[in-house]
Amino acid sequence: MRKILVIHGPNLNLLGTREPGIYGRLTLAKINQMLKTDAKKAKVTLVIKQSNHEGQIVDFIGQAKKNKFQGILINPAAYTHTSVAVRDAVAACGLSVVEVHLSNIYSREEFRHKSLISPVASGTILGFGAKSYTLGLSALLDLISAK
Ligand code: DQA
Repeated sequence: MRKILVIHGPNLNLLGTREPGIYGRLTLAKINQMLKTDAKKAKVTLVIKQSNHEGQIVDFIGQAKKNKFQGILINPAAYTHTSVAVRDAVAACGLSVVEVHLSNIYSREEFRHKSLISPVASGTILGFGAKSYTLGLSALLDLISAK
């Protein structure tokens, strides 16, 4: 059975009420439910984590291979733009990693235009709201199957 780790970064626990004009009205629980439905169809086990703490996210990524995950789906949220530590963890983890964002970071403030994660991710999907996650999971499963 394939096993995928989903990581939601800081403030994504607030989805539903957090700037709904940008991030939509779906809660994180609802997004997780959508992902679980897709995973069930694809016969994949999902483990889903959310953290507001950089070091904890680094630990999740760093332990993923040892914990028998084959891939990571991650929305690093604000750490996308600031965290060399998360980037280095992604680069070192030895797994396929798909980066996702709800919003189109390139159509927003300039400080969001740079992702430190994209250059070391297998691929990035952004701008489709909650659908970015389901598209990201599908792309990640294709990558893993092709390995
Ligand atoms: C985000 C975009 C980031 O710039 C922001 O800090 C987030 C969410 C997104 O999913 O659109 O927290 O990653």
